[in-house]
Amino acid sequence: VIKMADLDLNGKRVLIREDLNVPVKAGKVTSDARIRAALPTIKLALEKGAKVMVMSHLGRPTEGEYDDAFSLAPVVDYLNTALEQTVRLEKDYLNGVDVADNEVVVFENVRFNTGEKSNDETLSKKLAALCDVYVMDAFGTAHRAQASTHGVGLFADIACAGPLLAAELEALGKALDNPARPLVAIVGGSKVSTKLTVLDSLSTVVDQLVTGGGIANTFIAAAGHPVGKSLYEADLMDEANRLCAAAKSNNGEIPVPTDVVVGNEFSESAVATLKDVSEVTAEDMIFDIGPDTANTLAKIIASAGTVVWNGPVGVFEFDQFGNGTRAIANAIANSNAFSIAGGGDTLAAIDKYGIADKVSYISTGGGAFLEFLEGKKLPAVAMLEERAK
Ligand code: 3PG
Repeated sequence: VIKMADLDLNGKRVLIREDLNVPVKAGKVTSDARIRAALPTIKLALEKGAKVMVMSHLGRPTEGEYDDAFSLAPVVDYLNTALEQTVRLEKDYLNGVDVADNEVVVFENVRFNTGEKSNDETLSKKLAALCDVYVMDAFGTAHRAQASTHGVGLFADIACAGPLLAAELEALGKALDNPARPLVAIVGGSKVSTKLTVLDSLSTVVDQLVTGGGIANTFIAAAGHPVGKSLYEADLMDEANRLCAAAKSNNGEIPVPTDVVVGNEFSESAVATLKDVSEVTAEDMIFDIGPDTANTLAKIIASAGTVVWNGPVGVFEFDQFGNGTRAIANAIANSNAFSIAGGGDTLAAIDKYGIADKVSYISTGGGAFLEFLEGKKLPAVAMLEERAK
């Protein structure tokens, strides 16, 4: 793909699609990770002398109408401070917008525009007409073929990848295309069903596929152990066994926990009890892996060449069920492996256990990160490749 870093942007109208879809509470940004990741791109465009326009979605508003609750105003406040210059929020931009050299204008939530989600051609052409160069930098939204992530790129004079998107693709490529082995993937979360495609595609390429949370419970049940009242998917036990077999036939493994921490209610005050995986009773709910399992996994991670992490292995928001996830986090922090992590819960765990600077690469993608792991071609990336021909 063409890269923004290689282009002369002096005096050019540059429209950058970022993923500034961040959590907002009472008019304030509560997690700035995505904005911080986008800042170097905006700064580079300014350094190159561009007239900078930035666009993003925020949340999932009703299309075709303005809604204060989904305004990018809090993000613009943040950018004002971070860039140390006045950043303008523009609501009315589709029919043309004046931007001075070295100015940054942020377009209001692109999902207020009719036709954004359907990747409408008329809307895409209007966006394309606003710029000389379109920069796709929103890795977190690269799995959406929408007017601001895909359609605009088809009609812009020049369509290129921004530095953040390029860095994400390089890091993920390094982890999955030609990884240093052993390649270990940790996939946690509540349900196998939501991550079946990821598990499916990873089961044939990784050396160890570590499952966690409700996903692990389904594998525990499939291995013939009682899971009591734990969250699991009985109808996917056959699928779990098939995945184990698939991993095995590729010389990989999906290790099943040997010990677990159970509680009898999903609450902050639930009492945590350690049990052998074979001793879970009808009343128990599995909320974490036990120390034996955590040790085994820590060893696997310690000897890994590459670690890919998506999803906690326990209910880590309750401290008594957080030791497994903490052990995984520490093992990744202490390992020499190239490590990459992504997804909202995973980032929260990384923050909680303070290992952010010990992970080789933290992705800004949630759904996009998963689709990449699934082996899918991200539509926005496909568009950039097409445009580079
Ligand atoms: C995300 O948070 O995963 C991205 O910003 C995409 O948002 P969406 O799922 O609403 O398209």
